[in-house]
Amino acid sequence: MRDSRCRGHRRGCDASILLDGNNTEKTAAPNLSVRGYEIIDAAKAAVEAICPGVVSCADIIVMATRDAVALSGGGRYIVQTGRRDGTTSLAKNVDLPAPSISVSDSIKAFAKKGLDATDMVYLLGGHTVGVAHCSLFQDRLYNFQNTGKPDPTMDSSLLTALRARCPQNTTVDNTTVTAIANGFDFSTRFGQAMIKLGAVQVLTGKQGEIRLSCRATNNPPNNSFLTSSNYKLQVDTTESFLFKK
Ligand code: HEM
Repeated sequence: MRDSRCRGHRRGCDASILLDGNNTEKTAAPNLSVRGYEIIDAAKAAVEAICPGVVSCADIIVMATRDAVALSGGGRYIVQTGRRDGTTSLAKNVDLPAPSISVSDSIKAFAKKGLDATDMVYLLGGHTVGVAHCSLFQDRLYNFQNTGKPDPTMDSSLLTALRARCPQNTTVDNTTVTAIANGFDFSTRFGQAMIKLGAVQVLTGKQGEIRLSCRATNNPPNNSFLTSSNYKLQVDTTESFLFKK
């Protein structure tokens, strides 16, 4: 789902993060923890078996995200389809905001993509699932802005919980932060913001292509180690749980 937020790459929601190869977006440091590519492969194989060359990898990401949100209890929203896949993917184009970004800079970053501050607040609720590494917020737990104290704006019970998961001076850097958003209409508003996010810089009509494999463009460059034979489509319905029933 993290990938599906369409922020893993500067080009927008064109599935460029899925492309394998040297120096593609998935090799950029902030994207190294992105997982689940094989789930997208399985969904693509299932769709290609029934309806070849029609459904883009970009649409599959958006629909898989919708299903992941619903399956994890986050409510269901209706997504738009018709995106096409991009044909380029460069690590140097990845411009993910750092975890230290300020609220005002974050508002500006979302505004550049046509998303307002309200969208931003709901979308950041996407962090109620998934993993965050201690090192990325350790300073706020123990030494906020070199004060030797925690971030005073942090909820004290959250602080206690996170300190237990991320002891000071630990070399273990792996914590799962899971919380439940109790907001009255959070699910609906989150869904609305996700629909907007899924429309950021999409390719439509004759732009881009419908990839045969989500891991390679239909005409990979000669110097790429990828060839289409590396990516023969395999239909494995046992794995395509997103489409069961
Ligand atoms: C200012 C914007 C954002 C910043 C600075 C940010 C920052 C981060 C950071 C630092 C992590 C932890 C990475 C790690 O430890 O490996 C993370 C994870 C995550 N983010 Fe964001 N994020 C932003 C926007 C979003 C949006 C818009 C969504 C979805 C709607 C999202 C969904 C997620 C998810 C699901 C994870 C967990 C990934 C996993 O389990 O591997 N993020 N984000």
